[in-house]
Amino acid sequence: MNYLDALQWRYSAKKFNKRKIPAEKLWNILEAGRLSVSSLGLQPYHLLVVENEETIQKLVPAFYNSSQIATCSHLIALVSKTHINKAYVDSYFSNIINERGVTLEQLSAFRNNINLLLETQTEKEMENWSAKQSYIVLGSLIMAAALEQIDSCPMEGFKADLLEEFLEVDKKSEKITVVLALGYRAADDHFQNFKKVRKPADKFIKFL
Ligand SMILES: Cc1cc2nc3c(=O)[nH]c(=O)nc-3n(C[C@H](O)[C@H](O)[C@H](O)COP(=O)(O)O)c2cc1C
Repeated sequence: MNYLDALQWRYSAKKFNKRKIPAEKLWNILEAGRLSVSSLGLQPYHLLVVENEETIQKLVPAFYNSSQIATCSHLIALVSKTHINKAYVDSYFSNIINERGVTLEQLSAFRNNINLLLETQTEKEMENWSAKQSYIVLGSLIMAAALEQIDSCPMEGFKADLLEEFLEVDKKSEKITVVLALGYRAADDHFQNFKKVRKPADKFIKFL
């Protein structure tokens, strides 16, 4: 299936059939998230993957008892950093140095750019910037899932406090921005029969 067919095929499933996704497909989807682009390459996020059935069921109330969560195979919470401190940037640079065999001196201009960003943004701006990066990951995960013929539903409709507490997110430095439920569409999920509604191309794209 090519990517346009996959995008036509996918929809936000409201009910899954509880079948578990094979580990290999799940891994491919997660790998697409890991390979996502992020501003400055800082990847100010990580994923929490919930696959245990009992744990998923315990999380249902945090999603207003939604059927997507009650029936999904896996649930991926995208956790974004609300603070980016020097230690985090240091570890990012250590990783580049290790992976590419370069020196810190060779990266000094890049490092200065990052320092400038961290010094000039307010805490709130950094938090928003960081959250935006996690939505790029969300797009990659959804696209990869569709290509793997795995259904998904992105979810912002959750009680953040409850979910973060349950998943033991460190609220001082991170938050859950969005969740992606994965699984196989239920035969009686009537949403799969709805025509896809999008703006026509001429309202979406303007060539200059
Ligand atoms: C960031 C984001 C958050 C969303 N949150 C929810 C949600 O909480 N519950 C839900 O049922 N659908 C949610 N959706 C699904 C959208 O409603 C859906 O993508 C949109 O209506 C287009 O329909 P389609 O995905 O079926 O093509 C969300 C989508 C995105 C991208």
